[in-house]
Amino acid sequence: MDGIWNNKYARGTNLVTSSIIRDLLHLTQRPAVISFGGGLPAPECFPIAAIQAATNEVFAEQPLAALQYGPTEGFMPLRAFVAEHMAALGAGISGEQVLITSGSQQALDLLGRLMIDAGAPILVEDPTYLGALQAWRPHAPQFITVPVDEQGVQVDALERILQSGVHPRFFYIMSSFQNPMGVSLADERRHALIALAARYRLPIIEDDPYGELYYDGNRPTPLAAIDMQMHGELRHVAYLSSFSKLLSPGMRVGWIAASPSLLAKVAQLKQGIDLHTSSLSQSVVYTACRDGLLAAHVPNIRQIYRERRDTMLNALHRTMPRTVRWTHPHGGMFIWVTLPRYFDATALLQTALEYDVAYVPGTCFYANGGGSNSLRLNFSMPTVAQIEEGIARLGTMLHTLAHEKAA
Ligand SMILES: Cc1ncc(COP(=O)(O)O)c(C=O)c1O
Repeated sequence: MDGIWNNKYARGTNLVTSSIIRDLLHLTQRPAVISFGGGLPAPECFPIAAIQAATNEVFAEQPLAALQYGPTEGFMPLRAFVAEHMAALGAGISGEQVLITSGSQQALDLLGRLMIDAGAPILVEDPTYLGALQAWRPHAPQFITVPVDEQGVQVDALERILQSGVHPRFFYIMSSFQNPMGVSLADERRHALIALAARYRLPIIEDDPYGELYYDGNRPTPLAAIDMQMHGELRHVAYLSSFSKLLSPGMRVGWIAASPSLLAKVAQLKQGIDLHTSSLSQSVVYTACRDGLLAAHVPNIRQIYRERRDTMLNALHRTMPRTVRWTHPHGGMFIWVTLPRYFDATALLQTALEYDVAYVPGTCFYANGGGSNSLRLNFSMPTVAQIEEGIARLGTMLHTLAHEKAA
């Protein structure tokens, strides 16, 4: 009976397979497994009472706006709040330059629909966010990858690609505490990247859901702010962010800040997809933010995640074989581990599950393959005790395997 449907699927959908992370989350449901696999915020970081209070306020103050259809671009008070937030980051824009999306995942989907034709080149980091690959693969772009090191994307490598005559539709970059590596673009590379964008008329999609989650020093300056400084407007950068990691991902509220002409096109597409993001979610997020929740709450998240990051880095240092390398992120939710070349982290996952520990194999973050000896560890979700124990299990496994290899 399935044949009635599956021989009529659109061609692009064959290019999408189920996300390995979703499949993995399923496998790691066994209570004994300590999972570093997901990318979820810690549930103890949800400001439950404040969101409940904001919901009550919404129903007391403006229930009709929260229950009615709303404008495609979003609830204007929330758009204005986001514009103020962006101004505080150095990108002084107006509420009209903000479009509210159903999470930043929808922003990726919308921009993919708007910008990609089959075979068109797009530039992505190597490795990059799996959800962006999932969103864009159905459009069959030609993915061109740009290498990333501890200082973020290698801007000189990007320049060589542009010099070679490629005309990409856009460059997609997570500027701060990148998923999956946890690394951030160094300050001088940020300026060099915007200068390069100006020289080559390169559109940049800056995805920044983790920028507020910094644990050392200051918040990195978004590329959007540098674009504004250099050009007096958002000329090269479409900036994406989200309330998912700051309040709750279940609310599904994110945003795009960009030039008015780009947002007008995005709004046309969004109309055909979901009309607008949930009015209720937008009203609750707005009311919570108006009442000062971000300033009161985000420092708590930073404190909890900083301790977990430190615990994981220390545990890795204590337990890993000398041949294993990892990143030292100053924020975000992930650490990226590189094993000796003879390991295949995908094949190894089965063994790790026998040791009751899980991670995400690195290869799924590479648009064109590679990275088979790498893996991603999440430190936001597991507790400090679970991190100690889980990294010890991984360490034991890798020592045992390295020993067997040597024997
Ligand atoms: C880099 C990046 N972009 C976008 C998203 C999507 O987040 P949301 O749709 O919840 O805002 C995520 C989620 O993990 C992410 O890591």
